[in-house]
Formats: sequence, structure tokens, C-alpha cells
Amino acid sequence: MSAVKTLNEFIIERQHDFPYATGELSAILRDIGLAAKVINREVNKAGLTNVLGAAGSDNVQGEQQQKLDVYANHQFIEALRYGHEICAVASEENEEIIIFDNENSKKGKYIIAFDPLDGSSNIDVNVSIGTIFSIYRRENIQEQVSEKDFYQKGKNQVAAGYVIYGSSTMLVYTTGKGVNGFTLDPSIGEFCLSHPDIKIPANGKTFSINEGNYKLYPKGVQEYINYCKEEDSSTNRPYSARYIGSMVADLHRNLIKGGIFIYPATTKSPNGKLRLLYECNPMAFIVEQAGGKASTGEINIMDVELTELHQRCPIFIGSAEMVEKACELFKSSILQL
Ligand code: AHG
Ligand code: MN
Ligand code: MN
Repeated sequence: MSAVKTLNEFIIERQHDFPYATGELSAILRDIGLAAKVINREVNKAGLTNVLGAAGSDNVQGEQQQKLDVYANHQFIEALRYGHEICAVASEENEEIIIFDNENSKKGKYIIAFDPLDGSSNIDVNVSIGTIFSIYRRENIQEQVSEKDFYQKGKNQVAAGYVIYGSSTMLVYTTGKGVNGFTLDPSIGEFCLSHPDIKIPANGKTFSINEGNYKLYPKGVQEYINYCKEEDSSTNRPYSARYIGSMVADLHRNLIKGGIFIYPATTKSPNGKLRLLYECNPMAFIVEQAGGKASTGEINIMDVELTELHQRCPIFIGSAEMVEKACELFKSSILQL
């Protein structure tokens, strides 16, 4: 059996990819790995420990917070607070950014945005959930950090990743030099490199979209759904429909096997549901680094201007050729209007 490579060993090894690296980003990634293990411990025994169910509060989106949302949010913030590299965080669960005002953190070069628990509706039913994170460099470290520091395009991300709490727990991340996946070996409590240099197939056989909303979707999206269901052996259609309802889990499957995930605008939510800062941008960075694409239907996700912390954004993401086809139908239906 070949020797295992742990996440921490890999992070140190990869620091050499960045000749001027000071080790700060590496330290952040190690802190995230630790937070992921703590959250995983709770997720794994959720049914036994009174952490299932609603917390009795709503978050900024007006969504009911689950106890695990609150727990994961707290763990993530505390893991980063004393690391000295991050000076502020933005979370799905907090209306405003949280500034770390201890002396060391004030000088931190980095800020981080995250969705502590993605797929909250699946927590109580033992279906895969996740955590998503996105790291930016502050543009001006001389000034007091503010919400404005987060108003950057996704293409400025220096690192992004997700943790999936599934049949096994995995951490997948990129620093802009490919995508690597690590599986948690519970017997040694370490994330070990299991999926080096992940590449998403250019085409797949899976489409992931909440079809219950079909009638609320733009015409071009309806046309693409119909296209997925047509019979055509040259393109392996009909495609299979797979929709878990946890973006992390749906995208993880599509990243490994090929496929497309769409959360479009609807007549009720003209910008879709998913949040640009801590859902769409990090996933777009990972998928593009793996050779796939991520679009609003019209422009690349990572080119969208962010003007509000919790801004929503429609998303078409996954295998390059599938995203191109879906966007082509979407754009031509807009032109017909
Ligand atoms: P969160 O649990 O962080 O609020 O995110 C849930 C998101 C995403 O994970 C998933 O793809 C989507 O909501 C599902 O929404 P629908 O139930 O509207 O399909
Ligand atoms: Mn989410
Ligand atoms: Mn969430």
C-alpha cells in the first residue's frame, strides 16, 4: 500500500507553487480542515445528540435556521478568529460581516466568506450536506476592514473549497492551480489525498435542477429541460435527472461524473436562490479549475459585480459542453423576447 498524504502535508508541499508565499493561506486552509473535522463529528452523530431540528431563529434570508446551521457557523468562525490571517468573515447566517478585532487579526491580509451548512433541508433526513468557503485578499490592508472589502468579483478569489458530509466526508479545494480532493479517514482523524487533480468530464449524462419549479422558469431553461429528456443516441440522451437539494452534493457528483446543475431565475425570485458570494463564486472557481464552466446564462459567474453581501445569482454550472448548450438555448430565448 502506498503511503497516505494528509491535507496538511499536501498544503505545505503546494506552498512552493507560490514563490512569495508567506504561509498565511496555508494556515487558513489548515484551520478550515480543523473546523471541517469538528463539524463532521457533530453531523455524524446528529440523530443521537439533540442537534437535529430548527434552532427557532431565522437568518438574513428569512430562512429558518437549523441547529446545525448555527453550530457549524460558530465552529467555523471560532476556528478562524484566532488564526491571525483573517480579519473579517461573511457568513450566510449573519446579516453583517464579523470583524476580528484582536491585535493580530486586524493586520490580516485575507477575508473569507462561507456557507457553514449547505443543504439545511437535508440535515434531519440523513442526506448529504456540505460547507462552502471562498477566500479573498483585502485590496487595501491599511484601511479598516469593511463590508466593501467583500465587494469583489469571483475572479479575485485566491482559494475556494467545500466539504461534503456524505457517505464519506471529503474536502475539495483549489488555490487556482487545479482541484484536489481529500477523504477523511476517521480511524486516524485526517483528510488524506484521494482525488488528485480532479477534472470534470466535458460532457455528462446527468442534469440537476428542481423540476418542480418548471413553470416558473424562463423559456430557455424549460427548453433545455425538454432537450435533456429527448431521445438522441449520439448525445446519450435522455439524460438522467438527479437532484439532491444540497448544492454541494449535486455539484460534487457532477464534478466527478460529469453533468450540469442549474438554479435559474424564477418568476418568484428573479435572481434565483443561490448566493453569489459564498455559493456561486466558490463553486464556479472550483468547477472552472477542473475544466468546467459556470455562467449566469449570459456571463461568467466570476465576472458578476457584487454590490450586496447576500446577493443572489442564477447559475448554470458543470461540464463545459452541457453549460454551453444550456446557455445557448437560454440566450436565444431572451433574444426572441
Ligand atoms: P442552504 O441550505 O445553505 O440554504 O442552501 C440550500 C440551497 C442549495 O444547497 C440547494 O441546491 C438549493 O438550496 C435547493 O433549493 P430548492 O429546494 O429550491 O430546490
Ligand atoms: Mn447553501
Ligand atoms: Mn447554508
